[in-house]
This record gives sequence, structure tokens and C-alpha cells, in this order.
Amino acid sequence: MKKLIIFLFIAMCVHVHAQVNNHSFGVPSETTYNHITWNAKVDFSKQIIVADATYQLKVTAQSKQLILDCKNLVIEQVLVDGEPAAWQLGKADPLLGSPLTIAVTPKSKSVKVSYVTTNQSDALLWVEGKKPFLFTQSQAILARTWIPCQDQPSLRFTYDANVEVPADLLALMSARNPQKIQEGKSGKTKIYHFEQPKPIPSYLMALAVGDIVFKPISERAGVYATPDMIDVASKELVDLEKMIVAAEKLYGPYQWERYDVLILPAAFPFGGMENPMLTFATPTILAGDKSLVSLIAHELAHSWSGNLVTNETWNDFWLNEGFTVYFEFRIMEELYGHEVSDMLATLAVQDLYATIHELQPEDTRLKLKLEDRDPDDGMNDIAYNKGYWFLRTMEERVGREKFDRFLKNYFSKYSFKVMNTERFLEILKSDLLDPGSYRYIQPEVWVYDEGIPRNACFIGSDRIQKVDEWVEAYELDATMMKTMPWKEWMYQEQYRFLSKVKFKSVDQLHEFDAVWHVSQTGNKEILFAWIVQTIETGDRSKASVEVLKQFLGSVGRRKFISPLYKSLKTHGRQEEAVQYMKMYEKVYHAVTRQTVWGILNEK
Ligand code: BES
Ligand code: ZN
Repeated sequence: MKKLIIFLFIAMCVHVHAQVNNHSFGVPSETTYNHITWNAKVDFSKQIIVADATYQLKVTAQSKQLILDCKNLVIEQVLVDGEPAAWQLGKADPLLGSPLTIAVTPKSKSVKVSYVTTNQSDALLWVEGKKPFLFTQSQAILARTWIPCQDQPSLRFTYDANVEVPADLLALMSARNPQKIQEGKSGKTKIYHFEQPKPIPSYLMALAVGDIVFKPISERAGVYATPDMIDVASKELVDLEKMIVAAEKLYGPYQWERYDVLILPAAFPFGGMENPMLTFATPTILAGDKSLVSLIAHELAHSWSGNLVTNETWNDFWLNEGFTVYFEFRIMEELYGHEVSDMLATLAVQDLYATIHELQPEDTRLKLKLEDRDPDDGMNDIAYNKGYWFLRTMEERVGREKFDRFLKNYFSKYSFKVMNTERFLEILKSDLLDPGSYRYIQPEVWVYDEGIPRNACFIGSDRIQKVDEWVEAYELDATMMKTMPWKEWMYQEQYRFLSKVKFKSVDQLHEFDAVWHVSQTGNKEILFAWIVQTIETGDRSKASVEVLKQFLGSVGRRKFISPLYKSLKTHGRQEEAVQYMKMYEKVYHAVTRQTVWGILNEK
């Protein structure tokens, strides 16, 4: 009998859900869950996590199975209400992984899955060193490589966790966190308990384990980092509380109890990641002069846009990121004045046009059609900066006061809910734009058409304008360089100069460096722009190659690393690039590694 049931169950699985839309095999409308309890042991010697996850089910009268997304996990056991259950792991799709199908009934209460991660669990990066470090990166669809789940942003759940780690390391999650290494009877390991009492989507599940210490900034905000970084990090982020206050003043109370920032090892593939209660950030923002803190304003802003109101699918990604860029610039304006926010907006437009130039026209729409594609393909300046420009254009049309009232109401009304582009257009019609403004803005053109609409508002900055004049003057006459106010320029101005100017020769480039010491800068954005210049100008001097190699071997942030490899390739240095990649890929996260190999292997 039991064999027959299992046979029928397997037969049933085979034809189920060959079709996937949400980048997920899960079918929450049939069976889902509202809470996960995660028990895990982090084993640094084998670089695996041995874990079990228990799901509090939400069944329907139709519930026959629970389908979870899984990728590169070894499933060891599945229990339904404590009893061994029939389960099956479907054929693996290279992008999505496999559906884990578990037989349940409309009466089932809980499912428990025991499993082990593998060296293909792409969310995880095990960083080796005197003391090891582990961190996860789940967005967009990598949560399934370390926790089986219905890995789609439209689905929310609360979680709690017990995580066992070596006794000298601290564990942190996107949850209520400890502030120091647990005291207590000495043993080889310690167990940390976590709770995330607010429902979150799977892409915000996060874990970090390492030699981490904490420093408070205010009652509700602080910084985590390794001991060698903590002082630098807490100095750089002194304005954290002010940012939260500015954000709350704009769009309503902060909903996540605490706001802490964890500075990760340089291998972190992104600038920042808005994990609830604990933003993950690259150490490359620690420039020493707070010049790169807009990134923290951005991640903080996600505590509203994204973490409260969440994009329904990755096709609506602009709703997460475009709103967040808008909010980021508003926080920056509040704290540092409109000269700074104007520069940020102007640079965003510059990046946007460069991106549009590189993309296929159909990929320049806000609403994406990512079916069968990696959601990562949508992570570009369209979602971020075209999204920003759309919102800014509406702000200018209706006036800031009205626009702010609209946004504040939007964040409170749709908190802990999902949003899609179509619904947002409806809301614009009912809550923001009168018929005249709607006709003027043409929201459908913004979200469904390619390129930049003709009604896009003017974005500019006096300071950037002056820099552009210096670029022109310098290109005409390189001796102008010495009278340039380089040292007085803010980071954004230096960056603009370096990302725009064309050096006429390697000698000219070296003269510039001899005067302004750009290659020695501690600001990684500036250094990046400089290295791009050396490649584009054809500078293969020993010193410049050293700077390049040092950078490629010590930074894993994809935004820097992948354009550098690409630039090497397009400037006839493909073999050299492959050689570097073979040397350094071990220190990159899978996200960066895969993008770079994609570039280098492309014909
Ligand atoms: N949520 C994103 C990072 C992300 C997006 C990771 C999609 C994976 C898939 C984060 O908020 C972000 O936008 N980070 C930016 C910084 C920002 C200032 C533009 C980054 O990492 O560069
Ligand atoms: Zn973001």
C-alpha cells in the first residue's frame, strides 16, 4: 500500500509545474507556510552547514503537496508532523534548481527538512583567514541554495533560528542579534538564537559568522565589523542615527526595531544588501571621509521601499530599487544639502545613459520580462536610475509636498504587502495624479516603453557642470591640470572628472598621477575610475599593472570587478584577464565569479 502511494505520488510530481513564472517552483496558493524554524550547525572545517528547517504550514482544502525550491543541497530526511513522508527532488534546472515536492494533506501542520549545503551552494562564501568568515547573499534567487523555501519575493514568513558556530566566532542574521560573543561554559561551539518577528520574503534571509565585534552609534543603531575595522567603520558611519531620523521624517516610523550595519570582508559581491535589521555592506565604502555613505542611506531606505512594500516578482524590481534611489537622494539632501544630492542625481543620469547604450533596447523598460532569464539580468541602472527619474519627474510635476504625502501614505498602506507595476499605475491614478497630470506624465510610457521618455525632468548640478568645464579645458591644454581645484573637489566631482576625461597618452596620465596621486587614493570608487583610465589609455607600465592586480585580488565587489575584466578584454588583454581570473576567482563570491567568466567566455 505504502509503495503504491509513493508510486502515485511520484507519478503526480512528474507532470506538475513544468511551467515556472516566478523564478520559483513553489505554489503557495495550494500549500505554503508562515514561519520557519531553522536549526543549523556551521562547520568551517568542511565548509558546510548541516541544518534542518521546520515550516509551519498554511494548507488549503486542495493541499496535496508542499513544493519548495532547492538548489545544490543534499536533502537527508523529510518529516510531516513528525512522521517520515514521501518526497521527491525533481530534475535540476541550471538556473532555478529543483522542486522539492513533499506529500501533505489538508490536515498537515508542519514539515521538517534535514539537509546539508554543498560547495555549490552559491549564496555562501567561506572566506579563509586567521579566523574564518562566512556570509550569505540570497537576493535574488539564491536563498534556495542554503534554505529550501518557496523562493519568491511575494511570499512572506517570520523565522527563528538556532545557529551553532565555533566558540570564538559571532553569528548574526537578518533578525534580532546578539551584540557580543556569548560568555559561558567553555566548549568548542556556541549556539546563537535569532528571531525575526516581522514577516519577510526569502531573499532577505541572511547569515554571517566571523570574528565580529559591535560598536553602538545610538540607542537603536550600531556597527558590526572585524576588530581591525571596527573603529574606522564606526567613525565612517557616525551619521547613522541622523539618517534614520531623516528617513522617518520623510516617510514614517522605522519598523524594524534596530538598524545595524555589518561591514563584510572585501569579497562581498555587492555594495550593500538591505537585510532586515542588519544591512550587509562592503568595506569599500570606508573611504575615511564619509564620502561614500550614500550607500548606507540607500540600504536604510530599503527598510521602507522593498522590505515593507516588496516587488511582487523580479519583473517589478524597479519598484524596489527606483523608489530606494529616490529615497536615498532625499536622505542625502536632508543630511548634506542639495548640492550633494544634485551631484548624485546627475551622476546617476550619466550612468543610466551609459547603460542604455550597452543594453538591448527591450531591456531598457522598467517593467521587465525576465521569464527564463536570471533575475540578475535586471540588476542594472534601468531599475535604479530610470526608476528614480520617473519618480523625480512626478515629484516635479505635482510638487514635493504632495509627492511626499503620497509616498508616506503608500508606505504605510502597503506595508508588509507586495506591489506590482500594474497596481502601482492604478494607485498613481487614484492617489496622486489628476487626469491632466496623468496625461502629462504618461506613466505607461515610462514603465512599458524603451529608453528615456521625452517628458523626463531636467536633472543637473552646478558643481558637476563646473567639473565638465574643467574636463574640456584640460583636454584642450593639459597644463591646466595644475590650476585645477582637485584637492577641494568632493568625491563626486573627482569621480566625474575621471569617468569623463580622455587622457591623450600614457605620459599625460602619469603626469596627472604625479601631481594628484590618484593611484594612491584610499577611495575605491576613485581608484576604480583611475584603473579604468589606465586600461583605456593603454598604460601597461609595471606600476599601473601592480595597482590593477592589487585591486582585482583584494576586492570582490562585482560593480568594480566585472567592468575591469571587461575593459581588459576589449583592450586586447583577454589572456591576461583570464590569467588574473584564474589567480583570484577563489576570493570572489559566486555572483561575481559567474558574471566575470560570462564576460571572458563570451565570443
Ligand atoms: N538590493 C540591492 C542589491 C541586490 C540587488 C543584490 C539585486 C542582488 C540582486 C542593494 O540594495 C543595492 O542596490 N546595492 C547597490 C548599492 C546602491 C547604492 C546602488 C550595490 O550593491 O551596488
Ligand atoms: Zn538597492
